[in-house]
Amino acid sequence: MDVLFSKEQIAERVQAIGKQISEEYDGQSIVLIGVLKGAAIFLADLARSITVDNTFDFVAVSSYGRARVSSGAVKLIKDIDNPIEGKHVIIVEDILDTGLTLSYLRQLMLQHKPASLKIATCLDKPERRLVPIEADYACFKIPNRFVIGYGMDYAERYRGVDDIRLYPDTPPGH
Ligand code: IMP
Repeated sequence: MDVLFSKEQIAERVQAIGKQISEEYDGQSIVLIGVLKGAAIFLADLARSITVDNTFDFVAVSSYGRARVSSGAVKLIKDIDNPIEGKHVIIVEDILDTGLTLSYLRQLMLQHKPASLKIATCLDKPERRLVPIEADYACFKIPNRFVIGYGMDYAERYRGVDDIRLYPDTPPGH
């Protein structure tokens, strides 16, 4: 599979975003909320590039078909463990694609009344957007191609690949 972004390119972008977040939240504490499982590796790297005080939490949404189920419905299967009211929160996602997952999670997290809420994504596929939502931080914008690696899967495989690669076929629903 062809490499789209090497581990060095990814590390460079993650460092840059970590630095930006550290500057923007200088003197504050933040809560990073990772969306399982795809964002786990990005969150691990991002957290280590952020110099301000930070804690993590994780949510999981329905994995089969994710937002690509015909209704566009997204179901929460794991909620946050700790309250986020009054906290500065950043949702950390692997890919912002149609936007259905992140708009759902954004609304859900806003109900907890955080002091602020932003979105960090490793990849952004703006061409596929079905709902208007933008990331505050994105490592790379990519065209409408299916990718694997750096936490991202095809049918649960390839999450451990340490660079981001183009999957040769377009899976159903993409
Ligand atoms: P959406 O923005 O609600 O469409 O959902 C985004 C989710 O779809 C991501 O978090 C991934 O789990 C999955 N996804 C979208 N595009 C890809 C891809 O190219 N490779 C792997 N997973 C993808």
